[in-house]
Amino acid sequence: MNPNLTLTRNNLIRQQSFVDGQWVDAADGRRMAVIDPATGATIGEVPDSGADDARAAVDAAQRAFESYRHTVARERAALLKRWHGLIMANQEDLARLISREQGKPLMESRTEVAYGASYVEWFAEEAKRGGGDVIPEQHPGHRMLVVKQPVGVVAAITPWNFPLAMLARKIAPALAAGCAVVCKPAEDTPLTALAMAALLEEAGAPAGLVNILTSSRERAAPLGDAWLADPRVRKISFTGSTPVGKHLARHSADTLKRLSLELGGNAPFIVFEDADLVAAVDGLMVAKFRNAGQTCICPNRVYVQQSVYATFIEMLAARVGALTIGPAGGSAEIGPLINLRAIEKAEAHLADAVAHGARLVVGGARHACPDAPDGHFFTPTVVADVDARMRMSHEETFGPVVPVTPFATEDEVVALANDTPYGLAAYFYSRDIDRVWQVAESIEAGMVAVNDGVLSTEVAPFGGIKESGYGREGSQYGLDEYLNIKYIRHGNLPVRKQA
Ligand code: SIN
Repeated sequence: MNPNLTLTRNNLIRQQSFVDGQWVDAADGRRMAVIDPATGATIGEVPDSGADDARAAVDAAQRAFESYRHTVARERAALLKRWHGLIMANQEDLARLISREQGKPLMESRTEVAYGASYVEWFAEEAKRGGGDVIPEQHPGHRMLVVKQPVGVVAAITPWNFPLAMLARKIAPALAAGCAVVCKPAEDTPLTALAMAALLEEAGAPAGLVNILTSSRERAAPLGDAWLADPRVRKISFTGSTPVGKHLARHSADTLKRLSLELGGNAPFIVFEDADLVAAVDGLMVAKFRNAGQTCICPNRVYVQQSVYATFIEMLAARVGALTIGPAGGSAEIGPLINLRAIEKAEAHLADAVAHGARLVVGGARHACPDAPDGHFFTPTVVADVDARMRMSHEETFGPVVPVTPFATEDEVVALANDTPYGLAAYFYSRDIDRVWQVAESIEAGMVAVNDGVLSTEVAPFGGIKESGYGREGSQYGLDEYLNIKYIRHGNLPVRKQA
């Protein structure tokens, strides 16, 4: 155990993969360091798994699936409820782990634990509702039924920005449906995933039902390719970048796996002149600065109607300039970005925007944090007069940078908002009820928030359209992603004669 990292329950710090109910090293013994992004310090070491480990995990999952698929819904619900209880009982330790390896402020990590646990609770309940249908008979002497069956072994590939919530959001519905799981957490945040596996073990999950393999960026490709090639893996659920999502779609074609892809976004945030500007600034602060701007649904393009443009920028700049920056343990509102590449991307987007005529209003530089001089901190930034030629208008910055663009008319802004290959989230503020419905229905996105900066909840369908992917997580629709529909027709039944 690393002396730098201590929890109330130190047995939640696991530094081995979890396969077939055992804590194991990579077959070839390779390991990789886990880094605290606030300090650059190594806080742990985990296996750097490869293709052989990937196949062994599928062997275990397939064995577990053969028996787990026959469990009754009540039993699966009970397992998820126990896991949910353990997650919430260890909320503080899990939050500390998230903050240490991911960097987000402790307050946000606590919220993430509760958010992730809410999916486990939700799918514990949904497990009992995954029923089928009876189709009215078309000919005498026939019965037709629709039953739903688990798809099989699911590969869950999870991102670093919500290391607990995204894993819970994939594993919980898979288990509710009767599937077994092989999972690869992001290379930056393996410790949270392993702690979640420890709690699942404690909850009584059978050996092999959930297998977690950690791996480095370099070995992620051979590991993932082994799952792509394996016909026993029947589904992939992935949250991450659009290029990787496309790779998964292409390379799963040979075995025609089912896919749920929650990919990149380029969310517009529109403020009409009839909006409540105070509420709009509040909403933007919440939506944009959650996790230091590192969520797929963070607004990436802010459009403000000309008549309120200057006022809005002034109000926004005052709030953004007051945000506090620092390592996760203290009271800071903005933590470090995940790594140096993230800082460099924010800098490159900003330099490109300024070179093309954008105006830096506040922030715009690396932040030297006295408590954490080696951390990857970036000052919360507002940049005005951004236009469509600039990189930040069409690439996800994934950092605490707010680009603002003026617009004149509703038609113009809807066209701007939809001028992107992405379609995950969108936000707008208006008090005109006709406009609200018109814009909500015209925006090309899987999720639209009207007069609100929050979209995420386990009870609503999370997911995108266009190049932001397909499939929905959470809600009454989430379980179907892990179920096959089977139609059963029963003929030659006795026909009751009419009197
Ligand atoms: C994401 O950034 O991919 C997920 C964000 C959320 O669930 O709110």
